[in-house]
Amino acid sequence: MCGIVGYVGPRDCTDVLVSALKKLEYRGYDSAGIAVFEDGKIAVAKTKGRLVDLEAKMQKQGKPQGHAGIGHTRWATHGEPSDVNSHPHSGRRVTIVHNGIIENYKQLKQFLIDNERTEFLSDTDTEVVAQLLDFYYDGNPIRCIRRVLHELRGSFALGIVFADRPETVYAVRCESPLIVAQGQGEVFIASDVPAVIKYTKDYYLLEHGEIAVLKNGGVTFCSLHGRMLEKELLTADWDEDSAEKGGYPHYMLKEIHEQPTAVKTTITPRIENGLPNLSECGITPETLRAFQNIFIVACGTAMHAGMVGKYVIEKLARVSVTVDIASEFRYRNPLIGTDDLVIIISQSGETADSKAVLNLVKGTGAKTLAIVNVKGSSIAREADMVIYTHAGPEIAVASTKAYMVQLSVMYLLAFEMAFAKGKIDEDTCRRLTAQIVSMPQVIEKTIGAVVDMCQYVSTKLISTDSLLYIGRGLDYALSMEGSLKLKEISYIHSESYAAGELKHGTISLITEGMPVIAVATQNSLLEKTVSNIKEVKARGAMTIVICDEEADIDSEATDYLIRIPKISEMLMPMVATVPMQLLAYYTSVNKGNDVDKPRNLAKSVTVE
Ligand code: G6P
Repeated sequence: MCGIVGYVGPRDCTDVLVSALKKLEYRGYDSAGIAVFEDGKIAVAKTKGRLVDLEAKMQKQGKPQGHAGIGHTRWATHGEPSDVNSHPHSGRRVTIVHNGIIENYKQLKQFLIDNERTEFLSDTDTEVVAQLLDFYYDGNPIRCIRRVLHELRGSFALGIVFADRPETVYAVRCESPLIVAQGQGEVFIASDVPAVIKYTKDYYLLEHGEIAVLKNGGVTFCSLHGRMLEKELLTADWDEDSAEKGGYPHYMLKEIHEQPTAVKTTITPRIENGLPNLSECGITPETLRAFQNIFIVACGTAMHAGMVGKYVIEKLARVSVTVDIASEFRYRNPLIGTDDLVIIISQSGETADSKAVLNLVKGTGAKTLAIVNVKGSSIAREADMVIYTHAGPEIAVASTKAYMVQLSVMYLLAFEMAFAKGKIDEDTCRRLTAQIVSMPQVIEKTIGAVVDMCQYVSTKLISTDSLLYIGRGLDYALSMEGSLKLKEISYIHSESYAAGELKHGTISLITEGMPVIAVATQNSLLEKTVSNIKEVKARGAMTIVICDEEADIDSEATDYLIRIPKISEMLMPMVATVPMQLLAYYTSVNKGNDVDKPRNLAKSVTVE
């Protein structure tokens, strides 16, 4: 998604903007640009492509020199990626950068055309906002911004500079995230904290409808109605090192290796005397007892964590769980009762469709629980209860450690709910909790055990166009994530299929040499899964099987075996995830792809 940055202070503004934008590269983008006050005028540099292309362009044309400005990485929504569609966009006296979508931009453009404003250079909704600001600008920036905000529909954030207000940056948040970071005599805006953590850990979180004015190294805030605001200064509890690669060639590999620590940090504060205790998150045995049905709603990887959650909660707590894709749930008029619980899972806490589900649930009487990684994010703040996962910043677009900690929370929740509802006794709950406590070591061991094999097997995948992931039960839920991971970063077409369903259609796709990756960690289903593996093998498939170190698998059915440590069947997803992540990682590396920033994808999808 688009990234916004801004700076006012003594440093070289262009350098700060570019370095901050580099830290937002993980969000995904296709063009970049900056606008800097240079000798009292606004100098703009922008280009299609990466930040290195912008730097090269500035080296040729001259780098804007100044101490205040705004910058942007664009992820195209309106208009193709091109120099002209790149941000910043300008009206006669106003230049802006923008994240999000203006839903009514066509009407606003017509309004401007009707009023003889016809100088549109780009296809973007952003330029319409720049022109509209210019249209209403009467020398009072705040009045003008407030006027325009009343006209705009959509979710967005803006960084704005006015030509006659040098050394001043204005920022607005309407849904899309934006922070203002305060350093010593300097001040920044950014879509996300990692952009500026190198300069300061102190930041303000802009709320919906708030306007910030950055000037003389400080900031003031006012509301949409013009009222001055005092805001709480927050401090990030991680530093630049946690957001750097730390010697790994890619963030994704670093984040895979961080999983043991991430799980430990997430579960430790939620376990008391050997039993799960989620009371600091507002969840008590009484509240858990009351829920009749559970809906888990999320997007992408987070939704897949919900799929595993469904199997575990239903199995242990005997409560019906429905898992939905947020963009579908919103429009299917779901039957939600007052005694139901809606769980929203989101790494970023800003995914537009997941966020919209919270609004939908409000008024139904059902309770909402957010499982979120980013502190203070919109979903975390708007839900009735929140369990923060403590994965630390996840930079690679393909989610790994965030998924792993989401799984760990799903297990804790299932254990506590099952115990609260009297479906398991205290001893069983203690035994299960002890198993999850041991997971960090098991994950660590698994990484070491499978890394070489995954690297080797990935060389067998690079020349294929298409493959299948298959599994049964929890293995099926898990294979959905394995398949998504692989397609996201290797660009190989991949589907996950319930192994038993193959013969009802999809088996017709199997041709000589087509890879089929079977996840077979559920001993109770092993025989049946092995039969399905044999079915595809008999039709020419190249079979790769992920199973535990003791599983009895007929060697004739498999081309490659990836053995993982054996633990209790129910917790196997937390182990089996590791080889799936590494297979995707090495396949992408071997294909020479941009592992951390795969094409067309964004880390945090703040548009619907
Ligand atoms: C994007 C990312 C995925 C992520 C999904 C949901 O599509 O590329 O990796 O799983 O959004 O994101 P969230 O922040 O809500 O977990």
